[in-house]
Parts: sequence; structure tokens; C-alpha cells
Amino acid sequence: MKIAEARVLFLSCIFLDMAASSLSPMTTPQQQRQENLLAILLLNFPCLAAPKRAQYGGGIIVNPQFNQGTKGWNFTGKGAIREGVSEDGNRFILVHNRTDSLDSFSQTVQLEKGTFYTFSAWIQISKGSETVAVVFKTSDGKLIRGGETIAKQGCWSLLKGGIVAQFTSPVEILLESKNTSVEIWVDNISLQPFTAKQWRSHQEKSIEKVRKSKVTFQVTFANRTAAAGAIISTEQTMSGYPFGCGMNHQILTSTGYQEWFASRFKLTSFTNEMKWYSTEKKQGEENYTIADAMVKFAKQNGISIRGHNILWDNPKMLPDWVMDLPPEELQKAATRRLKSVMSRYAGQLIGWDVVNENLHFRFFEDKLGENASSAFYSMAYHLEPNTTLFMNEYNTIEYSKDQAATASKYKKKLEEILSFPGNAHIKAAIGLEGHFSSAQPNIAYMRSSLDILRTMGLPIWLTEVDVGKGPNQAQYLEDILREAFSHPAVEGIIIFGGPEISGFDVMNLADTEFAATPAGKVVDKLIDEWKSGTRKLRADSRGLAQVSLFHGDYKVEIYHPLTNSSTTISFKVTKETEHSTVFAQIDA
Ligand SMILES: *[C@@H]1O[C@H](CO)[C@@H](O)[C@H](O)[C@H]1NC(C)=O
Ligand SMILES: *[C@@H]1O[C@H](CO)[C@@H](O)[C@H](O)[C@H]1NC(C)=O
Ligand SMILES: *[C@@H]1O[C@H](CO)[C@@H](O)[C@H](O)[C@H]1NC(C)=O
Ligand SMILES: *[C@@H]1O[C@H](CO)[C@@H](O)[C@H](O)[C@H]1NC(C)=O
Ligand SMILES: *[C@@H]1O[C@H](CO)[C@@H](O)[C@H](O)[C@H]1NC(C)=O
Ligand SMILES: *[C@@H]1O[C@H](CO)[C@@H](O)[C@H](O)[C@H]1NC(C)=O
Ligand SMILES: *[C@@H]1O[C@H](CO)[C@@H](O)[C@H](O)[C@H]1NC(C)=O
Ligand SMILES: *[C@@H]1O[C@H](CO)[C@@H](O)[C@H](O)[C@H]1NC(C)=O
Ligand SMILES: *[C@@H]1O[C@H](CO)[C@@H](O)[C@H](O)[C@H]1NC(C)=O
Repeated sequence: MKIAEARVLFLSCIFLDMAASSLSPMTTPQQQRQENLLAILLLNFPCLAAPKRAQYGGGIIVNPQFNQGTKGWNFTGKGAIREGVSEDGNRFILVHNRTDSLDSFSQTVQLEKGTFYTFSAWIQISKGSETVAVVFKTSDGKLIRGGETIAKQGCWSLLKGGIVAQFTSPVEILLESKNTSVEIWVDNISLQPFTAKQWRSHQEKSIEKVRKSKVTFQVTFANRTAAAGAIISTEQTMSGYPFGCGMNHQILTSTGYQEWFASRFKLTSFTNEMKWYSTEKKQGEENYTIADAMVKFAKQNGISIRGHNILWDNPKMLPDWVMDLPPEELQKAATRRLKSVMSRYAGQLIGWDVVNENLHFRFFEDKLGENASSAFYSMAYHLEPNTTLFMNEYNTIEYSKDQAATASKYKKKLEEILSFPGNAHIKAAIGLEGHFSSAQPNIAYMRSSLDILRTMGLPIWLTEVDVGKGPNQAQYLEDILREAFSHPAVEGIIIFGGPEISGFDVMNLADTEFAATPAGKVVDKLIDEWKSGTRKLRADSRGLAQVSLFHGDYKVEIYHPLTNSSTTISFKVTKETEHSTVFAQIDA
């Protein structure tokens, strides 16, 4: 599907969604969802001729629409601010004569520890196209980046971001753009606070909507009359949501590790064993022994595999012998590598990371030209047109300070790859590694980044989630996983961790006896929570019973106490069907 087509489909879904939600009374999570959907809808248009209203009426921002001139706004740094008025009389604010990237108008707001804040603003610049970021400056001068957009001349772009306050203190809200020769225009700024409880409640509502579907059972007797009072026991036998875990070669020699893994996960990706530096240490001497054995283990246990990775744009993560190859030789070697590994596992994997981390690194671009990544995606696509091809990056959701791989830059790069001649029909997906540090994750920023990427209408996967060692590792892991699972566009999650014996050095999930660590307990708890437990229902006078179930495979036993007859059926609940009816006959 072309990006344009995907967008149209996506937009129509959102309109439906908004129409549906306007029927219910307004609650805070409800309003949050509507505002969020509206923002996503607006993010879909790269740039608008007229900006839109402020989200949440501006939230805690004073004079968010500049209807009262610059009242409530200060100026920080050099340069100057001035009011702007558009042809239709709309008033906005602009900063000009800038000499420093942080010369900006500002407003001081009070942040409360533990509160989640979503930020948005409409931005335009006077000339060209530049990255504009929102920065929160604390009273001790610390700068916290909260999100960015690529703003353009002549139309308004939405900047979306967020911050979770780790302190109670005033902060100054500033806008930043490196190119000081452009004026920054802004209108309709919003900073809306949510308590942790409200945020969680929004997640729960979203999970109910996007990860579950309604099922109606209609039970009849053999004579076709309604089997009122039938007892329906449902049991989920398999989760429909791809929630997996990385694995490494240690699994080949530890039955404990094998049992630990297979009893929890039906999805994996190998940490290093498929990488080029593992399979072709010496040029021309390929050795797939270990990767093959791991594929075999996965297959025997019904575990699907996400391929990681074909090529890596980081020169430190390539076989040594590749470094000094002249361009034509490099092109040949890389092509051979791509063909070798893809054809070896053709039809056995659910997708591939093609050029890993091509936002942070550019080894192939430097050696082979600006379109190197696009050309490798094209090659991979032609080799296996039905396979999902991922970009895969770190720090897009986990670290706002890293400007190399922000959501807007990720989107730009992937659009570039997909607009390369012949690439329009690639089954593309967005891979986000999710290597979080031991510091408190900025979940509000994470959501805004996911929202920006969601506008591409492509599946988003978290591919290597871990959290740095620290006293709050388990809690932070839980916060991150809940945000990911509740986000409508996140279609798969793979965590990177394992039992002690696997040697995952960041996130240890079980000790030497395979007893869960605190982080491992979080994983087990969520696996359990995101499955529908055994449910007993009673059919009403019409023989009907309704229930909301997590997507997945089910086994159901239906019994009638009057006749003592029973029947067992199996069915699937999928995200494609919002509401399905299961017909069952007993006493047949
Ligand atoms: C800001 O929102 C108002 C509606 O609340 C709208 O009329 C105005 O056009 C928006 N600002 C801009 C620059 O469009
Ligand atoms: C901004 O700069 C321009 C040219 O550099 C100058 O003419 C103008 O006076 C300056 N305006 C302010 C408000 O500093
Ligand atoms: C403007 O700056 C002053 C001094 O830094 C500060 O006390 C005041 O709160 C600021 N006002 C606003 C509206 O941000
Ligand atoms: C800054 O923006 C101006 C106007 O678009 C452009 O001509 C100039 O090349 C930009 N400078 C840099 C360093 O990108
Ligand atoms: C249909 O079958 C059920 C169960 O055997 C019985 O209780 C009921 O009376 C029957 N109804 C009719 C209309 O035959
Ligand atoms: C291939 O790798 C396996 C596992 O490391 C090793 O045992 C074997 O000797 C290697 N084969 C060759 C030909 O080097
Ligand atoms: C690719 O998928 C399409 C549609 O699902 C199917 O018709 C086609 O046979 C598949 N091709 C291959 C090579 O698997
Ligand atoms: C890269 O590909 C684009 C088409 O997507 C083309 O316009 C451009 O010239 C190519 N650049 C180089 C350096 O080959
Ligand atoms: C159903 O089973 C119960 C308990 O075993 C028994 O008391 C009852 O008579 C049975 N009813 C029929 C219709 O077989």
C-alpha cells in the first residue's frame, strides 16, 4: 500500500473513532483520547495553511492564543518578540533577530512532581525548513527537551511533545531552533497536566478498545430454541498480541533457559547470532551453524522469529574485513550478505531489520552514496516482497536529548526510503529499540513520539526493550510496557532480557534457579494481565451472553444444567473484528 493510501484509510478510521467517542459523556481520559486523535489527525498533514485551536484550550498556559497580545509571555536571550497578524486577522507571536538557538519568548509554569504534561504548539518559520524543539528550562538552568517538529515557511506545523515532572518547580517553556537567521512563529500553545491516575486510566480505556473485542455467544438446543441458562466457560489458550523476548546462543545448551523461554514467549529475535559479524567472520567463510540451531529450537517450540539484522550502518558493528573494502567491493559483499541471509531464512521469519540504525550512523551512505539504505531496502523487497521490512533505531522514544533519531527525523528517513523508485509497495514497519536508561522514563514524550510515527499508518514495534539497572528498574519497565501496549499503533513488543544464564547484562529476568527477579515478575504479571482468564458466563433468556476478550485463541466449553449436555468449541478473537458472534449448539 502506498503511504498516501494508508493515510486515507487511517484518516477515515480516526473520523469514525471521533464520531463514536463524541456520543459518550465527556470524561478526562475520554477528552484526552479525543484531543489525542485530533492531534494525530492534524499531524497527518505535514503543514497547514491555517493553524488549529490550542489543545485542551491551552491547558495551564496563560494567553495561549495570543488574543491578548504578548500578555503572560516573557523574552529570554537576545533578539525580539513581536505580534503577528495573519490575513484573516488571527494573532500569533513571532521571535526575530535571534542570535542564539535558544533565543525565544517564554512562559514560566509550575510543574508538579509526578504529573504528566502533554505539550503542543503550532509553528511556522519565516524561511526554508528547520527543526524547532520545545525545551523546558528548570530554575537551576537544566534544559529538558520535550519534542520537536520540522517547521516550514508558508504553513503551520504541529509540534507535539511532553514531559513527566520529576520535581516540583517552576520551568520556563522555550522554543529552540539552531538556524538563528529564521524567525520562529507560534500560535495556540498548550500544556495540559494529567495525574498519574488519569494517565493510567486512559491507558486502561485504550487497552480495552484496541486489544480486546466483544464476543456474543448465541447458544441453542438441537431443536433450535434458545438455551437459556447455558453455562459458558471461556479459556484463552494463546495470546494474539506479539509480546516476545530476545534470545541468545546460550539457549542451545541450557534446558533451563529453554523451558523458561518456551513457557512464556511465542516470539523472539536473536541478539547477535544472525548478524553479519557472526555469520561471516572471515570474508567468504559463512557459518550459520548457531543461527540455524536457534531457528530450529524456535520452530520446534512454535516461536516466531523477527530477523535482526541484515546490515548495520554502524562501522563498529560490521565484520572487520568490511572496513577497508573499496566501494565496488563493498557493494558486492553487502549484496551477497543480504541475499545469503535472506534466502537462507526465506519464509521462516516475520520480518527483517534491513539497515540497522541508519539515523545514528551512515557507513553505507558514506561509502556508497546518499541512497544506500533505500537501495538495500529495494533489494530486500525484490528478494522477498511479502516480508515486513523494518527500520530499527534507538532513542526515538527513550531519550529526548538525542536529536539524531527523533520521531520527526525517523519519519523523514522512512518516507525517503519509501519514495525511492520501486519502494512504494514495501511492507514497511517502524522498529523502535527502546533501550531505556535507569532514569525515570519520560512517558509523555514517549507517547508524543509514538503519535508522530503513528501518522505514517505503518505498524510500530518496540524491538529491544530494556531498562538500565537501578532501584526502580522493574517499575520503569512496567510503566514503559503499559504505555506501549496501550498505544493503538504499537503492534508488537520484544523485550531484551533473560535468565541469569543467558548473560543479558542490562536486564536480568530470572536468577540462576530461574526464579523471577523484580523485572521478571513484572513481565510475568503483564503476560498474565493481558490474557483473559477463565470466565464463566450464563446465557440469558434468549440464549445470549456477551463478553469482552483479549485478542487470541480460545477454547470454550458450553454446558446446560437442565440436559447435562455440553459441547466444546475453539475460536479466535482478532483485532479485525470489533464484535463477533459465536454460534453454539448443545444437546445435538
Ligand atoms: C488558534 O485557534 C483559534 C481558534 O481557537 C483559531 O481561530 C486560530 O486560527 C488558531 N491560530 C492560528 C494561527 O490559526
Ligand atoms: C532586528 O534586526 C534588524 C536588521 O538586523 C534591524 O533593522 C531591527 O532594528 C532589529 N529589530 C529589533 C527589534 O531589534
Ligand atoms: C517573566 O520573567 C520573570 C523574571 O524571570 C518571572 O519572574 C516571571 O514569572 C516571568 N513571567 C512569565 C509570565 O513567565
Ligand atoms: C538558515 O536558513 C536560511 C533561510 O532558509 C538558509 O538560507 C540557510 O542556509 C540556513 N542555514 C543553515 C546553516 O542551515
Ligand atoms: C427444545 O429442547 C430443550 C432441551 O432438550 C427442551 O427443554 C425444550 O422444551 C425444547 N423446546 C421445544 C419447543 O421443543
Ligand atoms: C561453524 O561454527 C560452529 C559453531 O561455532 C563451529 O563449531 C564450527 O567449527 C564452524 N565451522 C567452520 C567450518 O568453521
Ligand atoms: C505474497 O502475498 C500475496 C497476498 O497475500 C500472495 O497472493 C502471494 O502469493 C504472496 N507471494 C509469495 C511469494 O509468498
Ligand atoms: C536518491 O534518490 C532520489 C530518488 O528517491 C533521487 O532523486 C536522488 O537523485 C538520488 N540521490 C543520489 C545521490 O543518488
Ligand atoms: C444431570 O446431572 C445431575 C447431577 O449429576 C443429575 O442429578 C441430573 O439428574 C442430570 N439430569 C439429566 C437430565 O440427566
